[in-house]
Amino acid sequence: MAGSGIGTLFRIQTFGESHGPAIGVIVDGCPAGLKLSESDIQYYLNRRKPGNSSISTPRKEADAVEILSGVFEGKTTGCPIAMMIRNTAQHSADYSQIAECYRPGHADFTFDEKYGFRDYRGGGRSSGRETAARVAAGAIAAKILEELGITVTAYTKSIGPISINEENYDETQITKNPCAMPDAEAAKLAESYLKECMEEKDSSGGVIECRITGMIPGIGEPVFDKLDADLAKAIMSIGGVKAVEIGDGVAVSKMKGSENNDAFCADTADTDAGHQSGYAVIYNELSAYLPENAVIRKTTNHSGGTLGGISDGSPVILRAHIKPTPSIFREQDTVTRNGDPMKLTIKGRHDPVIVPRAVVVVECMCALTVLDLLMINTTSQLSNLKRIYQNR
Ligand SMILES: Cc1cc2nc3c(=O)[nH]c(=O)nc-3n(C[C@H](O)[C@H](O)[C@H](O)COP(=O)(O)O)c2cc1C
Repeated sequence: MAGSGIGTLFRIQTFGESHGPAIGVIVDGCPAGLKLSESDIQYYLNRRKPGNSSISTPRKEADAVEILSGVFEGKTTGCPIAMMIRNTAQHSADYSQIAECYRPGHADFTFDEKYGFRDYRGGGRSSGRETAARVAAGAIAAKILEELGITVTAYTKSIGPISINEENYDETQITKNPCAMPDAEAAKLAESYLKECMEEKDSSGGVIECRITGMIPGIGEPVFDKLDADLAKAIMSIGGVKAVEIGDGVAVSKMKGSENNDAFCADTADTDAGHQSGYAVIYNELSAYLPENAVIRKTTNHSGGTLGGISDGSPVILRAHIKPTPSIFREQDTVTRNGDPMKLTIKGRHDPVIVPRAVVVVECMCALTVLDLLMINTTSQLSNLKRIYQNR
């Protein structure tokens, strides 16, 4: 199967089916010397785990990660890091009904067309379970980014018609409510909306927003490997994601240039404070041309932290639009492999919304993408190479 890997210098390759013995990932290109333990990874996996709330599938998966290689005496060795998560809660019998027919909104039909044969238990490779392997890899990337002062934070922005109120934004709430919303009031409303969906044997879509702060300017390769292009590919590779927006996103098509452009200014603002508030841009290589302590910054961030595919130092803002969970429990029209019409009532354990469990997946795919581009950027200027090789 092609396409089970992503990344150039920080590369990951995932493997396994949702109802096989295990799923996992091999991370290659992780620098040696990073302190790493299974608990670092487990924290991220626990945020993706099903069975955590009344609006999540009752499926209970331990999702316990085992590090098989690449770590010695608590530190990465520079060798490939293999990680495995055993599947412990399969109910494969729930899926025997779909062996011979196609679930609407799922990948059954296209897998059959492509391979002529499919592992129908839980969707095989197309299952949301595959994302646990990416999360394990992304946890490592996020840990490295943290050492560089870069933070990736994703949260639920909306579920169905319920959106967070930016004025209530409280980051500590994200891990406290089952909707993963940074607004406790909106989370309660979303929870009751989801309970209505469940009573109606239906599901809901929603939007995840991700903010990458502490961004270093200059990350992203100008033509095919633009920061925004690579982020969009990484996020669109998550099952159920149907659109990705950067900065003002689709709203730009209705804006005027004067509204959409972010004005630049140079000032002597406190660089640390500016960096935290998000709009300070410090051009290290150009700082020789600027008065002492001066910084160039954008006064707004419509661009979402990227210009020409290269980070401008302000926060990268991204939104992933996610479709309603395709497996719903009401009767649906479909056909068998032979084309005979039939009525399908799906069994099994499915979330009424994918969004809260995908929040950490979006966070991890962003971390993987930014770290890879950060590593690639080390060769962009001779001075970078000199910093590494001349001070021995
Ligand atoms: C974390 C996560 C959990 C998911 N859980 C389910 C699920 O319980 N039931 C389901 O039908 N789809 C679920 N999906 C979505 C399917 O994997 C996805 O819609 C399907 O493979 C079709 O791919 P597409 O929507 O990208 O076209 C989940 C996706 C993610 C990312």
